[in-house]
Amino acid sequence: MRREINDQGKLLIGGIPASVIAETYGTPVYVYDVARIRQNARAFVQTFKKHNIPAQVAYASKAFSSIAMLEVANQEGLSLDVVSEGELHTAIRAGFPVEKIHMHGNNKSLAELQMAVEYNIGCVVVDNFYEIALLTDVLAEKEKSMDVLLRVTPGIEAHTHDYILTGQEDSKFGFDLSSGQAEKAFQLLNANDQVTVKGLHCHIGSQIFETSGFTLATQKLFETMKDWRERFNYNADVLNLGGGFGIQYTEEDDPLELDQYAIALIDEVKLQSEKLNYPMPEIWIEPGRAIVGDAGVTLYTMGSIKEIPGVRTYASVDGGMTDNIRPALYQAKYDAVLADKMHQPAEKEYAIAGKCCESGDMLLWDVKLPNVEPHDLMAVFSTGAYGYAMANNYNRFGKAAVVFVENGEHQLVVRREDFEEITRLDLSYTKQEENNY
Ligand code: LLP
Repeated sequence: MRREINDQGKLLIGGIPASVIAETYGTPVYVYDVARIRQNARAFVQTFKKHNIPAQVAYASKAFSSIAMLEVANQEGLSLDVVSEGELHTAIRAGFPVEKIHMHGNNKSLAELQMAVEYNIGCVVVDNFYEIALLTDVLAEKEKSMDVLLRVTPGIEAHTHDYILTGQEDSKFGFDLSSGQAEKAFQLLNANDQVTVKGLHCHIGSQIFETSGFTLATQKLFETMKDWRERFNYNADVLNLGGGFGIQYTEEDDPLELDQYAIALIDEVKLQSEKLNYPMPEIWIEPGRAIVGDAGVTLYTMGSIKEIPGVRTYASVDGGMTDNIRPALYQAKYDAVLADKMHQPAEKEYAIAGKCCESGDMLLWDVKLPNVEPHDLMAVFSTGAYGYAMANNYNRFGKAAVVFVENGEHQLVVRREDFEEITRLDLSYTKQEENNY
């Protein structure tokens, strides 16, 4: 895996020693190599450009949303996928062009739809009948119009290395294609002259290493598009194939290069368009993990070390499931090093524990490292997606800081939450005069 090391055996992130960042900002700290974010974004954007395919690459901001991140996404010409008022608010605060924002969600609230309509965002990805009713009311009340995509479930569940064909998908998201739900939703929306149905959307899974699930989904959606063209004289301008492009967490992972995913989609959409004599739709995608995942590293300081002879050695970090819940939640695997001992052989096996009061708070179960001592600096790789985004305050730990590194410079982009901030929303129950409603 890609690792930058200097002559003193120190890990570099974007050219800067990890130890400099840890000393400057404390630990735990999320560090992003911004050049890598840009490179990932460009792999998608440039591939569509090179093939002369009108496209939108919408960064799925659920993977990591912050003002700085959305500024970079905008600089790179990405569109944006938001799923809540909070994500939309962040986008607005970051000055993200509203016409390039798409809103998702399987239970969008009235307030979320009102906000989307008030800000004139680019498109709402409509998910269910309840939402159609809400959106219809909001548009009528505000006398506005909205472009929408119809989210459908094509009956394909893609996993890292394979996909499952389910016919009728058991999913909380979107309209089922096989039962006629999608068609009914389309007719409702298409009959509303304040709504323009731009096309169809599907999202088949996350951390996918193969292109076959995407190509199959493309075929399914084209079948529907062809059917609707014949029966309703409807032409889809946009085909949104969602996100889910896999990244490397450990040596065991073998994802494709990002441009290969884009090429596979382009090839299949072209093929289907030609085969069915269907005008080539714009291709939209929504990568989250693939944009930020491998650009992020989390730095921790090692603390207590507990050896259970013949069983394992636990080495604890100053963070854990509060900054990275993925190992506890999904048994997700990561790779880690001691950032200042890169020249020392990694000979000893450790179980890396977090500091939450919970046995399941483990970051890695078995990682080979040089001899670990208290105060060593540990770097866990590929933590850029769904790390800070899913951070929490369990045990009332404050959320870690986020630092961007680029061109030999480092900059704080999200402040560390201190313990005063942990109580900032608390109100007294016994001393009413201190309550501040
Ligand atoms: N589009 C839609 C409609 C989605 O639901 C998602 C992710 C994406 C795009 C972006 O997927 P990505 O490219 O990042 O795989 N918390 C989990 C991942 C949940 C993904 C949810 N939806 C994790 O940490 O692995």
